[in-house]
Order: sequence, then structure tokens, then C-alpha cells
Amino acid sequence: MSKTVTFDGAAPVGTINFGIGQPSADLLPVDLVKTASQSFFDEAQPFELNYGVTQGDARFLQSLAGFLTSSYGAPATSDQLIVTGGNSQGLDLVSVVFANPGDTVFVEEPSYFLAFQIFRDHGLNIVGIPVDDDGLSVDALQEALKSHKPAFLYTIPSYHNPGGQSTTEDRRRRIVELADEYDFLIVADEVYQLLYYYDKPPAAYGTMSASERVLSLGSFSKILAPGLRLGWIQTSERLLGQIKAHGFINSGGSINHISSLIVRKAIDNGSLETHIESLRHSYRSRVEAMDAALHEHFDGIAEWTRPDGGYFFWLRFDESVDTAPLREKARAVQAGFQGGTVFSSQGQLRNYLRLSFAHYGEDDIREGIARLRSLFSKIK
Ligand SMILES: Cc1ncc(COP(=O)(O)O)c(C=O)c1O
Repeated sequence: MSKTVTFDGAAPVGTINFGIGQPSADLLPVDLVKTASQSFFDEAQPFELNYGVTQGDARFLQSLAGFLTSSYGAPATSDQLIVTGGNSQGLDLVSVVFANPGDTVFVEEPSYFLAFQIFRDHGLNIVGIPVDDDGLSVDALQEALKSHKPAFLYTIPSYHNPGGQSTTEDRRRRIVELADEYDFLIVADEVYQLLYYYDKPPAAYGTMSASERVLSLGSFSKILAPGLRLGWIQTSERLLGQIKAHGFINSGGSINHISSLIVRKAIDNGSLETHIESLRHSYRSRVEAMDAALHEHFDGIAEWTRPDGGYFFWLRFDESVDTAPLREKARAVQAGFQGGTVFSSQGQLRNYLRLSFAHYGEDDIREGIARLRSLFSKIK
């Protein structure tokens, strides 16, 4: 008897849940991964099934360096790169290697909610720094540095989760200057850097790794497939040396060695680049469908800025609105979203909500937004 195939966080059949920040099935490239895997296994040598070297397979790192050089428009070299199991694991790693229990870390307010738990798992104290339409507020950061000494600042510089905005080039430069001045590291989660649907975002922090202050975390989850559990950290040779010495990597060798050898083939045969280009087209149509549907149903009810990349719309409602209890009501109309509070390290942002356009096509997006409309009343 066949069993319904599902995935972690799947919505019940018939429900359009914009809380799901994962790609839809039609954007997960089974054939691409199959061809890359076949090409790897056709030539595979027994040693490739052994432990990989701690930093990552040299041939994969070479291909990744070439990919980043062309994608970020600045030279990347394999001696700045170490393989990870995706940005979640990268965050866990930097929390162990570059902070001690009891240390403070700065996060953006709002920020990627699942990162909070990773930091708390390591006994880190979280302090939120506000963001605005231009990204992380440098003034607020400077103010907070007067009373705190963070081990690192966790930032999502391009196409923020949940905010959708990007930190400007000027602010990025100022943040690196402050990191030098106040002696802290910048952990830049660049998971959406290549998912731009209009102009390109400001240069990735990965291009600034020579500064000795920057750890740029990248991942194949959003540009290829989350199930590969593959990503990288781009940083200076000195910081990379500290990561390599970590016990888990020292004991296990390259993280997700075989996944990396398969992805190497997808980089080298050009299929990854073609896939990313087609994702940009698909997501751009979805962004525009969601923006239009929101204008049709939510003008005068909420405020938002159409994101230029990434996965998310971030809606602000009148102060009197609390979105959390509305999630239950959304279930009743077979719709869904993420309430704002989970993205706040301080339990604030009750009058916000996050919508992902990654998991549904345009028709479902229009239908889902129409369903959500009934939960809210006009501001005035
Ligand atoms: C900002 C951010 N960081 C990290 C992740 C998880 O990344 P990975 O799949 O590479 O662990 C996500 C996924 O939603 C994300 O939005």
C-alpha cells in the first residue's frame, strides 16, 4: 500500500500555508541531481567513499571557488572555504568555535527565528538590534556597542528573513569598520544572496573575508535543494584554521563529503547556474503575483514593501492587531502564515506577519491571499 509522501512542515492537503519557507516541488530539480549523481558514480573511486579531508574535498572547493568568483563578481579561492552541512550547521559551528557560553551575540530585530534556538543551545545571550528599510541600523549597533561586548553579530544582509530588505553597501562597510573598532566578528547568513529577481544586491560579505572579521555562510538549500544539507563558510585563512580544529570536524572529516562531490558535478556541467537562473524567473513571477494580490486585498489593511529577492513578504498591521491568535483562524479557512512574534528575540512584533511565496505557484498565491483577507478588518 502506498503511503502519502510528505516532508517536514508539510501543510494538510488543500491548505495554502504561506508560513512554509521551502521551495515547491516543481522547483526541486530531481533530474539535475540525478545527472550530477550519475556522473559522480560513473567515475567514483573507492577513496571517495572514505572520510573526506576536514576542509572539504579539494576539487569541490575549487569548483565552489569558481562558482563564487563568478556569482559574487570578486575572486574567491579554495583556501578561504570550508564545507558545512548548510547554514543551520554553519551557525551551530560558529557558535561553538567563536563564542563561549554566557557570551552575548547581536541579532537583527527581527531575525531568522530558528537561529535563536541555535544560539541559545550554546548558552549565548541574544541582544536584538533594529533594522529599517536599509537593513541593520548602524546607529543602533553603535549605541549597543557602548554597553555590550558581543562575540559576534548575526546578520542576514540580502533579502532578509523575514524583512525582505537588504543592508546597503555603505552600511555593510560601516559595520565592518565597527567590527574592527570594537573587536567582534560578523556572521553573515548569505543564504538568499543569489536569489535576486531585479537588480543584484550589494556585494556579499563573502567578498570581504580578507578583513579577518567576516564569516560568510552560504548554502545550496535555496539555490539547489535543502535535502543535500550542503553549504560553506567563506572566511580568512586564520578564522578557517580555528574552524578546522573543531573536534566534530577533526573527527569526522569533510561534512557531507559525497553530497559535495555530486554538487561539484552540477557546478562543473553548468546545470546549477542554469537552475538558479530559472529559479529567478519563477520566483519573480510569484513575487509579482503576491504583491498584486496583496494590493487587491490588503491595501488599507497592512503595509509592506515588495521584496527584490529571497522568499518573503513582511506585513505590518495597526498596533492594535495581534497576528498570533489569527493563525488558528487561518487554519479554519485553509490558509496560513508565520506570526511576527517568533522573529523577535524580545517577544515583540505582534502586529507583523511573514508570508513566503516560495512554496506555491501564482494561482495558489492569489487564492491564499484572498482566503487570508477575511481574518483582518480595515485599519480606518
Ligand atoms: C536566514 C536563513 N538562514 C538559514 C536557513 C537554513 O539554511 P540551511 O538549509 O542551509 O541550513 C534558512 C532557511 O530558511 C534561512 O532563511
